Amino acid sequence: MKKWYAVIGDPIAHSLSPFMHEIWFQENDIDASFLPIHVEPSKLKQACEALHLLGASGFNVTVPHKQAIIPLLDGIDDTAAKMNAVNTVVRNGKKFKGSNTDGDGFVQSLRTANPKVDSRILLVGAGGAARGISFALNRAGFKDVTITNRTFRRAEELAAETGSKAVTKAEAEQILNGFDIIIQTTSVGLAEDEALPISLEKVREGTLAADIVYNPIDTPFLKKAEEKGCKTLNGVGMFVYQGAISFEKWTGIKPDTEKMIQVITEKLG
Ligand code: ATR
Repeated sequence: MKKWYAVIGDPIAHSLSPFMHEIWFQENDIDASFLPIHVEPSKLKQACEALHLLGASGFNVTVPHKQAIIPLLDGIDDTAAKMNAVNTVVRNGKKFKGSNTDGDGFVQSLRTANPKVDSRILLVGAGGAARGISFALNRAGFKDVTITNRTFRRAEELAAETGSKAVTKAEAEQILNGFDIIIQTTSVGLAEDEALPISLEKVREGTLAADIVYNPIDTPFLKKAEEKGCKTLNGVGMFVYQGAISFEKWTGIKPDTEKMIQVITEKLG
């Protein structure tokens, strides 16, 4: 019987997950579909029951449901528990189990830039995305991580949980030339005309600037970083790798990520 998968979110029309996973299904001769499903927060429970009843083999969960979905599932793995967020649900018989591939997806993308494990890393932001990334960096052996955030208290809380340091935005801007990698995890880059979440005036040439936003592909943060002579890593890699880890959880198959990064980059470019 044909299998089906989905991504649920609000909004959902912009999601490239159906496009990406359907290409991977075709490339791997898997008879399956992948549907974008618009689910408003007040309908999440009903949507989860419907996905169960109608036999979804798995689904992705995106904004704003990543936390709210947790009590509606039959269980979550350690990664999702640490992050307190689920982006991937796998069906195991009659049970839906939640996982989170966002942080590892980012770290796999970062690895394509060959970072040294002792790199001094500045994480900008302390929301859900930063949380996933800081735990994944920690697990991958990157120990020198500093977190800064508009709301300093959130940076302090996250830093305490992951054994990182926290600095205010003003401090981070002063010591910016001491970092080898700067990771932008806030939602600021989503709107072209918004200000940067941190001033890059003091950034050192050659620093790697990474953004998790992939649409637009060239965020204001990355544009500024490029102007300052930084190397840049856009969010397409993270998007593709988080999807690839989900795909493997669902099918047992590792899909072609390199080709997909090119395809998505062309689509967005
Ligand atoms: P997500 O799950 O996408 O990370 P979130 O948990 O709402 O979403 O976190 C959003 C992050 O972007 C936070 O770090 C937030 O900073 P605050 O903790 O101070 O709210 C950051 N952010 C959002 N808008 C911002 C802005 N205009 N300037 C700076 N940081 C911003």
